[in-house]
Amino acid sequence: MAKRKIIIDCDPGHDDIMAILMALAHPEELELLGLTTVAGNNHMRQVTENLLRTLTYLGRTDIPVSMGSDTALVLDPEPQDAHGITGLDGFDFPEPAFTPVKERAVEFMKNCILGSEDKVTIIALAPLTNVALLVLACPEVKAKIEQIILMGGSVYRGNMLARSEFNIYADPHAAEAVMRSGVPVVIAPLEVCDDCLISEDDIKRWEQTKKPAAQLCAGLMNFFAGYGRKRGWTQFTVFDLTTIMYLLYPERFEGFRSSCHVVLDGKYTRGMTVIDEDGNGHVYTLMKADRKYLNERFLEAIDRLDEGYPV
Ligand code: BDR
Ligand code: CA
Repeated sequence: MAKRKIIIDCDPGHDDIMAILMALAHPEELELLGLTTVAGNNHMRQVTENLLRTLTYLGRTDIPVSMGSDTALVLDPEPQDAHGITGLDGFDFPEPAFTPVKERAVEFMKNCILGSEDKVTIIALAPLTNVALLVLACPEVKAKIEQIILMGGSVYRGNMLARSEFNIYADPHAAEAVMRSGVPVVIAPLEVCDDCLISEDDIKRWEQTKKPAAQLCAGLMNFFAGYGRKRGWTQFTVFDLTTIMYLLYPERFEGFRSSCHVVLDGKYTRGMTVIDEDGNGHVYTLMKADRKYLNERFLEAIDRLDEGYPV
């Protein structure tokens, strides 16, 4: 596989960090040009701080971080309970040893994309505010975006409302702008994310491995698993990780071509994704993946980070 250039737009967030770890564990396949942050799981400055702390802990202060929007296009931010008070509870991080770059996210993404010889893939793990602003304000970048792979939406479920998922619910106007942009979009909705799991045993194994990446996963996933444990689950969905898994192992996924529109408003419908198999085909909707294979690859990736990639 040719090396892919990627930008990750995120709101860390436990599962955001798992996705970032998976990307960092594959330097031969993926070139991470930078990370941009946006209001989502917590306020933008808080999730930026979470990201800077994580990269400091991992010894990866060389990766540019750029701050993005601190509010949705139209609506107010609504921090998520599932990620705790800081948005990344469960691990004792060091103070950040570096600061974000001066350019804000839209300008940063634009410069990375236009400055790259190859097309760039955007991995979107959060409300789509930054990505929407980019495609709206800088349409010249569209031809140079390979694809936008996003975690968000659902076909028949929800985690905010009966049929609405958080990333889309938090900024439905931005999501609709991205779906209309004409850039190829791949959606990892809630349904396929349930094939991207870690188990209680995986967490125990990381706890016993006294190495940096394993310890980080143990602390963060122990906290994140709390929601499922209360419901008697022994396996836990790592939503955002699904996007990097698809980028690395698309042959392990099943999906279908569709259009996708977003319901902008409504007590019961805000953020609902209307995914239509008979639509324009701009959106590839993932539905199933090889659970066992993805889980094995993730465990292997964390072991690899601890073996020698710079942690
Ligand atoms: C999405 O919402 C956030 O809490 C997670 O980080 C993920 O991006 C799941 O609905
Ligand atoms: Ca996220």
